[in-house]
Amino acid sequence: MASVKDNIARWGELTHSESARLDTEILLGHILARGRAWLYTWPEYQLTPAQQSAFDGLLARRRRGEPVAHLTGKREFWSLRLKVDASTLIPRPDTELLVETALALCPQEKVRALDLGTGSGAIALALAAERPGWQIIAAERSGTALALAEENRRNLGFHNVEIHRSDWFAQLPPQRFALIVSNPPYIDSADPHLQQGDVRFEPRSALVAGRRGLADIEHIAACAGDYLEVGGWLLVEHGWQQAARVRKIFTAAGFIDVQSRRDYCRRERITLGTRGRIQPQLPAST
Ligand SMILES: C[S@@+](CC[C@H](N)C(=O)[O-])C[C@H]1O[C@@H](n2cnc3c(N)ncnc32)[C@H](O)[C@@H]1O
Repeated sequence: MASVKDNIARWGELTHSESARLDTEILLGHILARGRAWLYTWPEYQLTPAQQSAFDGLLARRRRGEPVAHLTGKREFWSLRLKVDASTLIPRPDTELLVETALALCPQEKVRALDLGTGSGAIALALAAERPGWQIIAAERSGTALALAEENRRNLGFHNVEIHRSDWFAQLPPQRFALIVSNPPYIDSADPHLQQGDVRFEPRSALVAGRRGLADIEHIAACAGDYLEVGGWLLVEHGWQQAARVRKIFTAAGFIDVQSRRDYCRRERITLGTRGRIQPQLPAST
């Protein structure tokens, strides 16, 4: 039988991982139902045979490259613990820039917002957590991802998010939003990164788009005008080398005030634009 300390020392087995020690601690904590601080407080704790065999199994799967989030079935996004599975993208910290920007753009308490391609529900649920007065529609094409988003919504107890099955806008009834956000698939099918790391275990339908990764962004930008209120904003996440092309797509689709925002690594990762400014109310003539 081995102790917590002996098991943490096995992180060297995860030779392919850039976060081998952290991965090992998260998997061990998951098996023991304890946080990482506990592991360091009780390094001499001896795992039971069942715990040891469960940990050995997870470590072996991680050695084969399976994402930690798939092994534990959960991932933190924003301030939320979300259930994750192989039906959609594992939420990334990069996407928090989209949430932050959306919240800064729309300080109002009552807003109708749409999250397209909601996946696990990450963006819609983060917005709902910060703005309980907003009414949020989350749309998703994949039935399994839709069920996951609904389960996350229920677990978190948010009543201001409705989840709909829709191929982008196609199945949504005509309506207007002050804010449309999306983290759509945007990877080029020839991108070699698709053969590396966690993305090998995520569905292609969540990652890859035609026309060098831009087909879905083009479609969303072309249709969004019919669903935006005057003065409403469209925000999309994209790859760090796609910003100039996405700005062109937005401008061609009739958006104004088009701009990209940088993440903490100074990379342009989201682009936004509006379809019209709200005209200032002129004072009534006397
Ligand atoms: C990059 S993932 C983003 C998931 C989640 N919004 C996030 O940020 O973690 C893209 C999502 O868009 C969904 N999707 C792909 N094509 C779609 C379509 N035509 N209509 C609606 N959703 C679509 C995928 O199933 C996937 O869940």
